[in-house]
Amino acid sequence: METPASTPSQWPDARLTRAAFLRLAAALPLGSAAMANAAAAPQPPASKMNTRPIPSTREALPVIGCGTWIGFDRRPGSAEYQRLPGVLDALFAAGGKVIDSSPMYGRSEETTGELLAAARQRDQGFLATKVWTTGRKAGIAQMEQSFARLRTDRIDLMQVHNLVDWKTHLATLRAWKKQDRVRYIGITHYTASAYGEVEAVLRAEKQLDFLQINYSLDARDAEHRLLPLAADLGVAVIVNMPFGGGGLLRRLQGRPLPAWAGEIGCTSWAQVLLKFVLGHPAVTCAIPGTGRPEHMADNAAAGAGPIPDAAFWRSNAPAIER
Ligand SMILES: NC(=O)c1ccc[n+]([C@@H]2O[C@H](COP(=O)([O-])OP(=O)(O)OC[C@H]3O[C@@H](n4cnc5c(N)ncnc54)[C@H](OP(=O)(O)O)[C@@H]3O)[C@@H](O)[C@H]2O)c1
Repeated sequence: METPASTPSQWPDARLTRAAFLRLAAALPLGSAAMANAAAAPQPPASKMNTRPIPSTREALPVIGCGTWIGFDRRPGSAEYQRLPGVLDALFAAGGKVIDSSPMYGRSEETTGELLAAARQRDQGFLATKVWTTGRKAGIAQMEQSFARLRTDRIDLMQVHNLVDWKTHLATLRAWKKQDRVRYIGITHYTASAYGEVEAVLRAEKQLDFLQINYSLDARDAEHRLLPLAADLGVAVIVNMPFGGGGLLRRLQGRPLPAWAGEIGCTSWAQVLLKFVLGHPAVTCAIPGTGRPEHMADNAAAGAGPIPDAAFWRSNAPAIER
């Protein structure tokens, strides 16, 4: 059962300051009169983002987050960088929380840390990052660097990126979890050729909180074994590359939306693709990557309203796949 991330009485609240609201409003396609009215009296979003429980703790996690690969690897002062506060505002305003990064993503961790600090938004985010190196010492040094770059003394989720030296890093992470330096631990991958190894690690490591894996309408291999296995083992699933890295969305962009899109609350292809991913019951959250506030708002809207189940997609997905 989906549950709203927060009650109406909590909105607007500390999650969205007036300055943040104005930045967000500037990113939305409203006329100037509407903007002026809206800025004077912020209205709550039409509906709240759904949440799903993290199996290991039952903590409620909002179903749409933000991936930072490429989008947040931007230099301060650039036009792309100046858009990024609006991305975080759009995520938080819609009730989202999860921000996924990695030391592999250029300066994305640094960008995330400095923007959250500048806007005093650290408490609103569920910060997920990764370790991506070999050796115990190098892993510890890289993860310490992530704490510094993200400007936090507690990381919500630390993941072993693409299973690189996973045994070594999971030993460190289990100790850090006991010390409450990291709240959750997990593993990630992004390609079907690695699913055999991912499955073996999931079965061998009984205390993983999260699996992050690719899943999209055009890359459905995770449905066969990994997603059901994660559900059986009580492991939360974060879906990366929900737009197939962007290519799937680009292929669909010129086509009219299906007639049923409105019935499931979708006004864009991005929302259709995200609702497809969320239609799998093993999925806890999807993290579409973006550096654009209007895309973040579009994506976050997919987390609200009805989320059709697998039976719906069995009937309706084939028409999109053609
Ligand atoms: N092994 C791993 O751990 C791993 C591997 C891959 C990805 N990841 C994580 O998963 C995240 C998502 O994957 P991804 O970024 O590779 O691919 P993705 O989410 O499937 O697609 C991202 C692309 O879609 C575009 N986009 C996003 N929202 C849009 C919208 N509403 N309308 C139109 N275009 C939109 C983005 O461009 P704009 O910036 O212009 O919006 C970007 O080009 C990554 O950012 C990263 O955090 C992890």
